[in-house]
Amino acid sequence: MPDGHRYPAEQREAVYRVIAERRDVRRGFLPDPVPADVLGRVLAAAHQAPSVGFSQPWDFIVITDRARRERIAALARKHRDEFAADLPGARARAFDRLKIESILDTPVNIVVSCDRTRGGRHTLGRHVQPRTADFSSVLAVANLWLAARAEGLGVGWVSFFDERKLAAELGLPVHLEVIAYLCVGYVTDFAAEPELATAGWARRRPVSWAVHTEEFGRRGLPGEEPVDPLSEVTAAIAPPDAAAMTAARERQDRMTKPRGSLGVLEEVSVQLAGLAGSCPPPLPEPACVAVFAADHGVHAQGVSPWPQEVTAQMVANFLAGGAVVNAFAAQAGAEVTVVDIGVAAELEPVPGLLPRKIAPGTADFTAGPAMNREQATAALTAGIEIARDLVAAGNRCLITGDMGIANTTASAALICAFTGADPAVATGRGTGIDAVTYARKIEVVCRGLELHRPDPADPVGVLAAFGGFEHAGLAGFILGAAALHVPVILDGVIAGAAALAAAALAPEAVAACFAGHRSAEPGHAIALDYLGLRPLVDLGLRLGEGTGALLALPLVQSAARALRDVATFDSAGVTDKL
Ligand SMILES: Cc1cc2nc3c(=O)[nH]c(=O)nc-3n(C[C@H](O)[C@H](O)[C@H](O)COP(=O)(O)O)c2cc1C
Repeated sequence: MPDGHRYPAEQREAVYRVIAERRDVRRGFLPDPVPADVLGRVLAAAHQAPSVGFSQPWDFIVITDRARRERIAALARKHRDEFAADLPGARARAFDRLKIESILDTPVNIVVSCDRTRGGRHTLGRHVQPRTADFSSVLAVANLWLAARAEGLGVGWVSFFDERKLAAELGLPVHLEVIAYLCVGYVTDFAAEPELATAGWARRRPVSWAVHTEEFGRRGLPGEEPVDPLSEVTAAIAPPDAAAMTAARERQDRMTKPRGSLGVLEEVSVQLAGLAGSCPPPLPEPACVAVFAADHGVHAQGVSPWPQEVTAQMVANFLAGGAVVNAFAAQAGAEVTVVDIGVAAELEPVPGLLPRKIAPGTADFTAGPAMNREQATAALTAGIEIARDLVAAGNRCLITGDMGIANTTASAALICAFTGADPAVATGRGTGIDAVTYARKIEVVCRGLELHRPDPADPVGVLAAFGGFEHAGLAGFILGAAALHVPVILDGVIAGAAALAAAALAPEAVAACFAGHRSAEPGHAIALDYLGLRPLVDLGLRLGEGTGALLALPLVQSAARALRDVATFDSAGVTDKL
């Protein structure tokens, strides 16, 4: 019997039960002390963890002294406050409601440390991967956490520390690292779901997103066919929920205001309800703008007065917080994430930058395809996964942003390819170009269309022909959001071109899209008309980055909030018009 060593069903159930019911606990701790024998069993379980080369690099420091815990709690408070000060609007409000430690609410705190030198230089395995010592100590934490749950003890992990300051408070020798700070005690109850999920801070990712067959990217659970994210999302995008839309329209008519007096915002609220499948829909916050940055081979044709290096320089500016997108995001309370989907430069890894480079820029589309189909699909997939990850991280509204010198040229070509528009009408002046450059830009778009003879029924082929890795990435981003029923606010002409590709792949994706603004680029209005989207703001902006969409964020949020919060004639006792 291959499964002869299997535990009896009841014991197996207990193992899976403790795994499912282990929780990070921060609330509802009881003051009762933890008996020494119980604590001893839990620590012995931790000590049985696997370890690299059997080095057992952990030590456990058991802390009960109140004065010491008060000093440690003060260390954590400092970092909590610093973290809170850095959060955008809605996130900061949500964080304020979260409890991140129970240092003083629990009778015992346990520190798990790691000695990366234990056992000397010939520790098996650690010689190639020094981090495996830390991993071993984490496994001791996992054992402790599970054994504690079985004993009815709650455990809360706190990581809001300057590690060296905490080590000094604990008298740790310099060769020991703090791996975990755990608050342990009996509790009133264990929640069924992570507190961060219940609070809407983050969502659980489906296991199918995490399992790959043979190679990264071939996603699928054992026994199932691998699914690729592109076909998965296009299959998941459904028409808006008609019942929720009807309920939203009816509610708008019963709200304490003249019928239709919120104008376009009433339609926005109806669209949000249809997308969410509920009336009222959830508030579209927190929001995150993802600025997809890439370079373009067609820049070589002299279509922009700006040198190509400006793309990378602006990425650095976004990450330093110095661009208009940062100012508008701060004002609107949105987070800024920058995606290197194809910048022609090596970018330093810094917080806030997602390194997803498909290639260092596209090829010149007047000489051949801007990218190959595999690259177009890879960029689409990257966009889908970024949307998924940002939604799993708790965002309820996604905003498109872009950066790429020469990307209005690629956008014009894409818009002409998808809508059949005349390049002389769809091509704009981008950042501002003289008459000679403008004439050349139109001619470049014409040459590209002539060369590739794009088929709008083959959106991947069209994206590959004219590129912009940011266009393909943004098309995936829109599809990913639509599949999760999360609204996407589109910025200008680059997002418009990307939305045409998304709509060509899954027409119902448009129901998730809100046109943030109408840019001064003529191709943008053509794209919006084709998609049937009405811009919310029209201020002659032509910057990109996500700026126009960010201006529309409060409008979309207000539309949802009105539908949710405004009283109805019957509930408020206000007399309706005769
Ligand atoms: C390495 C690590 C560090 C953590 N740090 C903190 C923390 O500082 N504060 C906190 O409240 N929770 C912390 N947590 C708990 C996580 O938020 C929690 O595990 C996650 O939300 C999933 O919930 P669950 O453990 O109940 O399944 C940490 C967890 C891990 C694994």
